[in-house]
Amino acid sequence: MAGEKKVVGIGVIGAGSVAEIAHFPSISQIPEAELVAVCDVVEDYREKAVKKWGAKFSYSDYKEMIKREDIELVIIASPNIYHHEQAIACAQAGKHVIIEKPFACTNFEAWDIVNTAKKYNTRVMVGCNYRFWEQHLIAKELLGQNIIGELKMGSSKSHESWDLYHEMISYTKFRADPKLAGAGALFDLGSHMVDLLLWFMGKEVKRVCGIAKNITRPKEYTVLDDCVYIQIEFEDNTYGIVDLNRFSPAVTQGCELLGTEGTIFTSSEAQNPYQSAPMAIYMDRDYEWEELPEIIRDYRYPQTFWATDNVTKPLQKRWISIYPPRGWAYKKMIQHFIECIAYGKEPVIKMEDGAKDMEVLCAVFKSMQEDGWVDLPLKEEIIPPYFTKGK
Ligand SMILES: NC(=O)c1ccc[n+]([C@@H]2O[C@H](COP(=O)([O-])OP(=O)(O)OC[C@H]3O[C@@H](n4cnc5c(N)ncnc54)[C@H](O)[C@@H]3O)[C@@H](O)[C@H]2O)c1
Repeated sequence: MAGEKKVVGIGVIGAGSVAEIAHFPSISQIPEAELVAVCDVVEDYREKAVKKWGAKFSYSDYKEMIKREDIELVIIASPNIYHHEQAIACAQAGKHVIIEKPFACTNFEAWDIVNTAKKYNTRVMVGCNYRFWEQHLIAKELLGQNIIGELKMGSSKSHESWDLYHEMISYTKFRADPKLAGAGALFDLGSHMVDLLLWFMGKEVKRVCGIAKNITRPKEYTVLDDCVYIQIEFEDNTYGIVDLNRFSPAVTQGCELLGTEGTIFTSSEAQNPYQSAPMAIYMDRDYEWEELPEIIRDYRYPQTFWATDNVTKPLQKRWISIYPPRGWAYKKMIQHFIECIAYGKEPVIKMEDGAKDMEVLCAVFKSMQEDGWVDLPLKEEIIPPYFTKGK
């Protein structure tokens, strides 16, 4: 940030695994951020945040923490059920908020957060950090340059077993508990992959048809979904598909963006024989070397002889794999939001985006109930079937 450095005081609610892996280390590396206080219902986790990450104060009740005037930004990293209540309280206390995904547990809760933040003039952003992966930023930039023609279809996927993050990393088992999580793969993985797809497509959703079922785990483990398919029709006769599962031991994750004059593939976390680069692009239009975006020229290695690209007009068409630096999406996301707070800028992830993400996710439950397509925006509150609101 230019000029005098403004330091933003931060309070974190939920000192569990994502705070430990992502938020605390990010805050410690951002010069404009200061970890003022932490809140967790478990004393050991609070104490760890104080000792390891230098939180100055710790609380067992977030309502006490958000009374502090030296906290400007609150990061909500508690189990999903608490996001709505805590975000509303933060906005009413005049705090800006990053809410971990999923934004909330119902569509009405999500819009309530948006409306309350507007009323109290605070900023809210859902923690969809995948948007800040370098390959996704590049893909979005190239789409903006119309490099693959008109984007007509898109898909996103995320396959990750319960045995990975949930069993290996998470401090608590909230993800398998319907009362705390609301949904399984649908909310946990879907919140990222729906957000990414809507952002890439850049259009309003007209209607949704989907399923979210438990097809692999016994009820004693969880009743929540581990198999999800979502079909999306956008307003302008374009289409999307999101598929998610919670049983594949090998992670596959990525997006396919299909334009009338080319294709972009991205994969954010997983490499495998099918997704061997974080990003690949094929352009069918006739280009000359000088017309290519710089990022594509940087990654277009000569196939036989370096000068062929300079003299072949139009360029020979082929796939180009792009390996951007891995970077650190969480840090970028938090830094971006802090800059938005400091300089009154609109965040890349708008607060309405969090609510639109929830609309699609909740529409899947209605689609299953009604066995068909569901029009958006939803008119009624859709409460996940196994989720008892407020209990
Ligand atoms: N953006 C991402 O990629 C990403 C990754 C992981 C988790 N998350 C999200 O972050 C949230 C937390 O997930 P996690 O994996 O860190 O879970 P976790 O179980 O590891 O940590 C949750 C923490 O919240 C604490 N907690 C529970 N109830 C609380 C309350 N009422 N007030 C304060 N603290 C409370 C728990 O004691 C625990 O320490 C979830 O919403 C999850 O979806 C996002």
